[in-house]
Order: sequence, then structure tokens, then C-alpha cells
Amino acid sequence: MQTRNGVKGIVLAGGTGSRLWPVTTAVSKQLMPIFDKPMIYYPLSTLVMAGVREILIITTPRDRQQFERLLGDGSRFGLRLDYASQPTPAGIAEALLLGETFIDDSPVALILGDNIFHGVGLGRQLSRHRGRDGAHLFAYPVGNPEAYGVVEFDATGRVISIEEKPAAPRSRYAVPGLYFYDHKVVDIVRDLKPSDRGELEITAVNAAYLAAGELTVTVLDRGTAWLDTGTFTSMVQASEYVRVMEERQGLKIGCLEEAAWRAGLIDDQQLAALADPLVPSGYGIYLRNLLEWTPAHRGDVRVLTGQRADIDH
Ligand code: DAU
Repeated sequence: MQTRNGVKGIVLAGGTGSRLWPVTTAVSKQLMPIFDKPMIYYPLSTLVMAGVREILIITTPRDRQQFERLLGDGSRFGLRLDYASQPTPAGIAEALLLGETFIDDSPVALILGDNIFHGVGLGRQLSRHRGRDGAHLFAYPVGNPEAYGVVEFDATGRVISIEEKPAAPRSRYAVPGLYFYDHKVVDIVRDLKPSDRGELEITAVNAAYLAAGELTVTVLDRGTAWLDTGTFTSMVQASEYVRVMEERQGLKIGCLEEAAWRAGLIDDQQLAALADPLVPSGYGIYLRNLLEWTPAHRGDVRVLTGQRADIDH
């Protein structure tokens, strides 16, 4: 468990899911399956790999109970999970106001519940930005930047602009939904006015940090996959990506139980206890097999020296 001033995490898992109606008419989008596990497992695993241990999950009032049924208080994953409700989707930045008491005076990592990250060394890469001063974001080259927050760099790699869904993007670099902020972020959001579409925009928060000279952006390397799952097609594509990778490598992506175990938050007995009820689907067999594997199969020679691996799932 983090001590005071450890980085707090927020997963924003609200919204209407209207782009997926009727699928999400009765069930939260972030509880929908991405291949073999609920969508929210992926961002939660990403936070765990980044070294975050206390996490607030923000959902709609309608869906909150179901998230609680799935994840509980987090103790069985070695985490502390809290819950909050967002009555209407008033903007991504509102998550930071809803989480104000939870954040207290700690730095915070905010991740969108529909963003999936996967790549070797990602955990190490992310944990470098944990708890730094200012704001830290990532950039990822995409073919349709107009659908995202877009960041522009000068020739020396310095950030010169950041815009939300610009009609004429100044670069190909989209900003994925994972943001690291220092404790000042709550004051910044408090001063924000809603945008023309009536939302507290996360891009406005990032622009405020840029104006203050306190924004840094890392371009995710080519080996990292960043997928979002907002439409029928992108959801199927993400499921297919996970299926292909998992079947080929025999390693799961976004497996919260495994991420917690590799991070040393739960021990072998606790992993076995999580595995048992999940045996009928095969998921539990995978977890049990993790305990059987020889160190070399665990994918990281550091296991041989007694440390857990930091390969990213
Ligand atoms: O995926 C990365 C992009 O996410 C960023 O590049 C953009 O800068 C950022 O604005 C956001 O764009 P989206 O178009 O994906 O935002 P959307 O409104 O779809 O919200 C993203 C997720 O957050 C979605 O799963 C629903 C949830 N959400 C959104 C809002 C506005 C909430 O839970 N509450 C909200 O108030």
C-alpha cells in the first residue's frame, strides 16, 4: 500500500456509451468484454504496472454496483479501490474534481476506462513519470488525429501546442487517455470553464500546464500498442488484437491478477485463490500455470535473482 503522497490513480469509466447503443443500453461499456476479460481490467492493469496502488473508479450511478461486484475493495488484488459516481458526463476533467478528497495532496494518474496499452517495458516507462512535478502525457502517431487530443512539437521536440479534436490537426500525434499530474491539478480544473460542448475538457487542463511551462510529453515507442474501444469496430479490433497476441504468446494482456502478482502485491497462495473460481473458463488455468512456470518461462531473467518480472500484460 502506498504511503501518504504516493501516487493515486483514477479510472474514468462513466459516460453514456451512446456510440455502442443498444449494446450499452443496460450495461456499462467498460464492463463489456475485450476478448477474455472486462474492458476495465486493461486500464487497471496499466495503473498497477505503473506502480499505482490506490485507485478511484468513477462510474455512472447506474453502473457503480456492478463494478463493485466485479472488483470489490481491491484487497484480493493487493489494491485499495474506492468508487465514485459521475451523474452526467460533464467532461473527463471533472473526474479530478470528483476525486478531490481521494487525491488529497498527492500526485495522480488518470486513465480512461476504454484505453488499452500494451508493450514490452511499458510498466517501466510509465513508472518513470509517476509523482513528478507538472503534467506528463504521452503521444502516439495515428492516421486520424482529428478524433483525439493532438499535440504538436517543434524541431527540438518541445511541445508547442495541444488541441482537442482539431479540424485541421497540426501533427499526427494523438494524446492517449493516460495523464500524470501533480497535486496542483485540482486547482487548475476548479478554474476551468466548460467548453462549447459543455464539458470540462482534459485538453484544457493540459493546455494550462503547457502555458505554465510544466507540460512534458513522451512519444510512446513503436513497440507499444494503444487501442481505444469506443466504437463497434474498434472494440472488435481490440478483442482480436488481444486474442491473436494471447494465443500466439501464451501470455495474457491486461490480466489484473497477473499484474498484481508480478508487482508483488499478492503472493503465490493469493494468486492460486484467485485462480480457483475461474478454472471453468480457462482463465483460472492460465493463472495456475503462472505458478508452475520455470523462471525462464516467466519471461525475465531477473526472476532468477529473486525479483519479479516487469513484462507488461
Ligand atoms: O482516447 C483518448 C482521447 O480521449 C483523447 O485523445 C482526447 O483528448 C480525450 O478528449 C478523449 O476523447 P474521446 O472522444 O475518446 O472522449 P470521450 O468523450 O469518448 O470519453 C472517453 C471515455 O471517458 C469514454 O469511455 C467515456 C468516459 N467519460 C467521458 C466523459 C466526457 C466519462 O466517464 N465521463 C465523461 O464526462
